[in-house]
Amino acid sequence: MNKIVHIVGARPQFIKMTPLYNALRESVDQVIIHTGQHYDFDMSDIFFDELNIPEPDYNLEIGSGKHGEQTAKIITRLEEKLMKEKPSLIIVYGDTDSTLGAAIASSKLNFPIVHVESGVRSFNRKMPEETNRIVTDRVADIHFAPTKTAVNNLNKEGINRFVYNTGDIMYDILKMNLTKIEHKKALLQQYNLNEGKYILVTVHREANTEKDNLEKIISALSQIEEPVVFPLHPRTKKKLVQYNLLYKLIGRRNMQIINPVGYVEMLILEKFSRLIVTDSGGIQKEAYIIGVPCITLREETEWVKTVDDGWNILVGNDADKLLKAVKEFHPRGRRKNIFGDGNSAINMKKIIIAYLNGDTDYKLDINH
Ligand code: UD1
Ligand code: UDP
Repeated sequence: MNKIVHIVGARPQFIKMTPLYNALRESVDQVIIHTGQHYDFDMSDIFFDELNIPEPDYNLEIGSGKHGEQTAKIITRLEEKLMKEKPSLIIVYGDTDSTLGAAIASSKLNFPIVHVESGVRSFNRKMPEETNRIVTDRVADIHFAPTKTAVNNLNKEGINRFVYNTGDIMYDILKMNLTKIEHKKALLQQYNLNEGKYILVTVHREANTEKDNLEKIISALSQIEEPVVFPLHPRTKKKLVQYNLLYKLIGRRNMQIINPVGYVEMLILEKFSRLIVTDSGGIQKEAYIIGVPCITLREETEWVKTVDDGWNILVGNDADKLLKAVKEFHPRGRRKNIFGDGNSAINMKKIIIAYLNGDTDYKLDINH
């Protein structure tokens, strides 16, 4: 049997891997390598537990560090494991330092690379993720683009071979779980929240956790009067403590700062909120699909169609714009199937199997 190695390391990658791992279960041997980039229980193990994916076969335990340090550790430690496992191909997800390290290590060892969420661009090279995406796409052999926009981005960079618009894998897992959460409003009681009457906030981007930017965001958040629930990413927690900003939030009775939550709990908090304020890539997409208005704490987004369709508004870290949007942003446009039909893992499986069988002319017959 062919052997496929999935390389993951950060919260959204455990989520993205799940549908593809499940789709490939009967067809190939699968190995999971966790880089160890995220390691807290609520940033890592919780997802393996609740999403029913096997424990990683290896954990490279790279931990936290600067970009170069993290990426270098992944390359060094992964090389050894890949030489041992000798996979038929490897799969990387998204745009983290784990994605980049894995792509470089695999490329040098000549293992074919599949990039899930290929072609996504912000056109902001200051973001660490943008470098990770560009380099990964350059060395990847098979490109699974989530949207037409992503396909176009790849084509503009001269990447035309083995580019497939599979749809977005985050929609697959969202679709599977949405029906399960319809009746789970009860969870809101735990937080004393009422359906449609609270704001869900997440912040973790590197730029937004720099002192000046974080101060502006916290100043705006601390002026919101509606109930707010804020699952705090460990990076942001660390910075709020370092810059002595946490007190501005915890003193407010309408503000609940909570630890990061599991995937299903997060979907429940998203689904029943009035509004989401975030700088997360994944949460912008989820907000659009679920139909909750989203205010994005960035100047640009990779998910431009969510803005074009009127369901997402970009406010950067401008406190006035954020507060105005909290009061006045009411989407009106119709949402479309911009992320496919929720069957992207099946599309990816067909392509991977065809590739492993030597069919290099495989055409994916879908239309979105
Ligand atoms: C990373 C990705 C980002 C992705 C995000 C998903 C890169 C460059 N960034 O950002 O694209 O959107 O994951 O959540 O890869 N920390 C802990 N415990 C953990 C993990 C992190 O305390 O389990 C703290 C450490 O202080 C660490 C900091 O968070 O230095 C940042 O973690 P890191 O993985 O470098 O970046 P993220 O902000 O999580
Ligand atoms: N998420 C979660 N718990 C949280 C915050 C986010 O399960 O406390 C999920 C969220 O629903 C989405 C994914 O994690 O599926 C997004 O990850 P994150 O915001 O960390 O990274 P990004 O998408 O920006 O890379």
